[in-house]
Amino acid sequence: MKYLLWICFLFTGESHGYVRLTNLECKSYDKTFIDFPACRLKVLGRGIIGANIHVKFLKLPINRMVVRLATYRKLSGYHPFLFNVTEEICRALKYPNRLRVFYYFYTAFLPYSNLNHTCPYNNDVFIRNCTLNDRMFAKVPLPKGIYKLTLEMDDGVMNWVSIINVHFEIDVD
Ligand SMILES: *[C@@H]1O[C@H](CO)[C@@H](O)[C@H](O)[C@H]1NC(C)=O
Ligand SMILES: *[C@@H]1O[C@H](CO)[C@@H](O)[C@H](O)[C@H]1NC(C)=O
Ligand SMILES: *[C@@H]1O[C@H](CO)[C@@H](O)[C@H](O)[C@H]1NC(C)=O
Repeated sequence: MKYLLWICFLFTGESHGYVRLTNLECKSYDKTFIDFPACRLKVLGRGIIGANIHVKFLKLPINRMVVRLATYRKLSGYHPFLFNVTEEICRALKYPNRLRVFYYFYTAFLPYSNLNHTCPYNNDVFIRNCTLNDRMFAKVPLPKGIYKLTLEMDDGVMNWVSIINVHFEIDVD
């Protein structure tokens, strides 16, 4: 069902008004494993808001990490909407599969990050001046509304150790 939906969205793309980041939070539940020295939105220009995240891994190298990516839509409170996918990131980087939802998000964020090689990761990860744009959503026509994307990461042995919450709005003209 999940993939069927995804395929449908892939082929019914339409354009949008604007997409705007409104809030960003990064939380570590285990600071011996992961920390976020920076996690903030910054105004880059008129109406352009960029996300900056510095992810510090304290137990290097990273050879395995499960991430869970979920999207929510706000109605009265946030409700799960459309995506809820789990991937082992090292495997996903090694065997890119463009039919996977993770790949879609990964390629959208790649230009803003240094996540451009396969595991092991021996360095900090940065997302710099990351903006959301219509192009990213061209294949996923989300209705006008308020959304949240969460990215949870584990420590390699299935303990969730962190979460990044990205809030954004889509306004269709
Ligand atoms: C991010 O944007 C700011 C403000 O526009 C700019 O000064 C900075 O050089 C940019 N950083 C990167 C890594 O592109
Ligand atoms: C996503 O799926 C996982 C595992 O199936 C579940 O535990 C979690 O509650 C789900 N999250 C959302 C937002 O639906
Ligand atoms: C990854 O990105 C960094 C910084 O932008 C760059 O220096 C490096 O050459 C890139 N590596 C690959 C394999 O593309």
